[in-house]
Amino acid sequence: MHLPHLIGIEGLDREQITTLLDTAEEMSHVQERELKKLPALRGRTIVNMFFEDSTRTKMSFDLAAKRLSADTMAFSGKGSSTSKGESLRDTMLTVAAMGVDGFVIRHSASGAPKLAMDWTGLPVVNAGDGMHEHPTQALLDAFAMRRRLGNLEGRHVAIVGDLFHSRVVRSNLICLRELGADVTLVAPATLLPTGVRDWPGAAGVTVTDDLDAVLPHVDALMMLRVQRERMSGGFFPSEADYVAGWGLTRERLRRLPDHAVVAHPGPMNRGLEIAPEAADAARSLILDQVAAGVSVRMAVLFHVFAGEGSRS
Ligand code: NCD
Repeated sequence: MHLPHLIGIEGLDREQITTLLDTAEEMSHVQERELKKLPALRGRTIVNMFFEDSTRTKMSFDLAAKRLSADTMAFSGKGSSTSKGESLRDTMLTVAAMGVDGFVIRHSASGAPKLAMDWTGLPVVNAGDGMHEHPTQALLDAFAMRRRLGNLEGRHVAIVGDLFHSRVVRSNLICLRELGADVTLVAPATLLPTGVRDWPGAAGVTVTDDLDAVLPHVDALMMLRVQRERMSGGFFPSEADYVAGWGLTRERLRRLPDHAVVAHPGPMNRGLEIAPEAADAARSLILDQVAAGVSVRMAVLFHVFAGEGSRS
């Protein structure tokens, strides 16, 4: 399977998603070897362009590219000519002119990776754009959940918290629905994206503000971060009120079914959307998600950059 780019989960079908997850499974075995390297992308140069802060996404994309033997370069918005006012278009054309093979891009503006791809004509993998999509996050979440729960068909996943500012929720909703999971979105009314019921994948999705009613019925609970850096006003009265309504507290943790898992894409606000006891519980997938990030990003880079015809 060759993918020309990965701008979003939107547009991928179940077969493509499953192939990516299966390749990620193979890639995870490479991570268990003493020599953790494959020659697949030798001679290709992939540039990590992060215009917005990142820890796990940026580092795991870099590691994934290196494990496939690609050459990597890192660009960060801070410390570059972006701070002198250079436009995104000029920045992208400048780096492309160096003769690189493609980009991994994170940007605070929704749609920036697609524009960069159109301007440069080079393959782009979206590492998170504004409040739009974060496709590799959804794939790694599915990978980590699939490993613990088995097939996601008919499984019930609740996505909880600041859905309004999240790009993770949109990608996850499409990905999980495509894989046959039932999805419930849980958020205070002020943090529910407008028009969410019309989103791709949203048909048949339940939307509620009542976390306590949902808890006993989930196979996986995905807690999303309260994204203060994107908030301009008061979306909830106080942190205590947020915790009381939508935090995964120690008490709520006890009310989950025994087999249910807890996920969070990170970075966490411990004590706000998730209590330390939940983050560190045996049922927590959080570090599995980080490990899955390397395998999934290896799979994505492989299918985008290893070239057409290199693998069926
Ligand atoms: C997410 C992101 O950047 O969208 N984090 C991540 O990539 N692991 C979620 C978040 O920032 O809360």
